[in-house]
Amino acid sequence: MTRVFSGIQPTGHLTLGNYLGAMRRWAEVDQHRADSLFCVVDLHALTVDHDPARVRRLSRQTATLLLASGLDPEVCTVFLQSHVDEHTRLSYLLECVAADGEVRRMIQYKEKAAKERQRGGSVRLSLLTYPVLMAADILAYGTDEVPVGEDQAQHVELARDLAARFNQRYGHTFVVPRSTLPQVAARVMNLQDPTRKMGKSEDSGAGVVYLLDEPDVVRKKVLRAVTDSGREVVYDRAERPGVANLLDILAACTGGNPESLADVYDSYGSLKKDTAEAVVEVLRPVQARHRELCADPVYVEGVLRDGAEKARALARPTVDTAYRAIGLLPPV
Ligand code: TYM
Repeated sequence: MTRVFSGIQPTGHLTLGNYLGAMRRWAEVDQHRADSLFCVVDLHALTVDHDPARVRRLSRQTATLLLASGLDPEVCTVFLQSHVDEHTRLSYLLECVAADGEVRRMIQYKEKAAKERQRGGSVRLSLLTYPVLMAADILAYGTDEVPVGEDQAQHVELARDLAARFNQRYGHTFVVPRSTLPQVAARVMNLQDPTRKMGKSEDSGAGVVYLLDEPDVVRKKVLRAVTDSGREVVYDRAERPGVANLLDILAACTGGNPESLADVYDSYGSLKKDTAEAVVEVLRPVQARHRELCADPVYVEGVLRDGAEKARALARPTVDTAYRAIGLLPPV
């Protein structure tokens, strides 16, 4: 059976981008067709300036939202990265096959490092090694497919390269994974600046729809989305990024196609109105289930405990094999 692994960082409140680019597919498709694991990557949240209490709170909230989005612990495994030591054990070995040049080339590293420097802070070494830990997340489970949004494709490429290099140097140990991207909404853009990704760590939330935004807040944000200077509704990501983004969101929410939807609308106003309602409808069941789950924290904790146990049992043999292959003696 195909093995699927994906992860999500507890670095902020989850967004519509996370949902349409990744989570919804995990719940609707991946968990039913593959042996799948979904991980709240809390160790990754420590790679930038962070508040410990906030990381704890967001880790719980992220796990709860994964379940609220429809992940079913009866058919998939949901857990916290820090509960499974195999991730960090393997990460070190992969640091021994990765070159510093190839991690410095990562777009996300360059962007985040620049932001940290701009704020006057220093760049944590773990920000540089971040994609190596991400490769460990993936490779520890013999993952075939990694369903992610477009921004993570480069990191999955690195995981592929590291797996292939390790196998070639030390003997076959890892499955070489590949990323899978959604057909629409692989890159949901910020509603106030459609040249930037809708990200959860944005300083201002005006262009970001959060999964837990009240319906009226969602409507307001979508209705105020920046559109382009033209008047016609056409789908052109390069020339009309604002309108194309709304069409992508509407298509992803309604199961349509952004190009054909463009033909249906003759004004930006009606496109925004329908997009706002479509988003509200998509978020409604997730928010309702989230409320129920918040009332039952013991259930969520149980899911995470069982998930970590299952994940550990799956990862340990692969990581142990990697330890032997690279030249380390087993403990006596
Ligand atoms: P993260 O936490 O930034 O995002 C989680 C998932 O949401 C997708 N995503 C988007 N998709 C479309 N449009 C957007 N605006 C948007 N914003 C986020 C991301 O592509 C991702 O699929 N490094 C990863 C976490 C990670 C991971 C892993 C993922 C750590 N280890 C192993 C896969 C496998 C990250 O920061 O995702």
